Amino acid sequence: MAQRAADALERARLGLARLLGVGDARRIALQSGATTALNVALRGSLRPGQRVLVGAAAHNSVLRPLAVLARERGVIVEEVACDDALRWDLADLERQLAAPTALVALSHASNVTGAVQDLGAIGELCRRAGARLLVDAAQTVGALPLDLSATPVDLLAFSGHKGLLGPTGSGGLYVA
Ligand SMILES: Cc1ncc(COP(=O)(O)O)c(C=O)c1O
Repeated sequence: MAQRAADALERARLGLARLLGVGDARRIALQSGATTALNVALRGSLRPGQRVLVGAAAHNSVLRPLAVLARERGVIVEEVACDDALRWDLADLERQLAAPTALVALSHASNVTGAVQDLGAIGELCRRAGARLLVDAAQTVGALPLDLSATPVDLLAFSGHKGLLGPTGSGGLYVA
């Protein structure tokens, strides 16, 4: 029974890798949801005093761990400007990336306005600046096509129980 359960998890991981354009399925860590995946990503990648950029549409599952990390590790959290539809202002992002930035935490799509961010352009700016890009794709994996083999993303958190129509308490973290 344990072997069958492990096989089912591996099949799910392989299916996710195929869906997301990930060559090596071991790059996907199954989690209990996007919230856990985001906590793992944020806690695992931010060292004391490092700076992180977020958008105005960031979900509580990003803002709350960042508030704790600001208190515990002196992490500096700053916001990227956006337009009325909550789309990131890429000129402002580029300006802000001129200062040392460890991580950019981007919500791929807003569940309030439906605005979808330009992952390719934002990822390219982050890569050029040497900042890692963490994408909160809770609202998009399973709902929008996403090819990580062609997108400059370092970390991507997703839910199993939204667009993927999976069981409650499922999700994952892709680590490039
Ligand atoms: C943008 C966004 N991020 C993260 C989450 C948290 O997802 P989960 O329920 O998988 O923890 C949600 C849930 O609604 C969300 O809309």
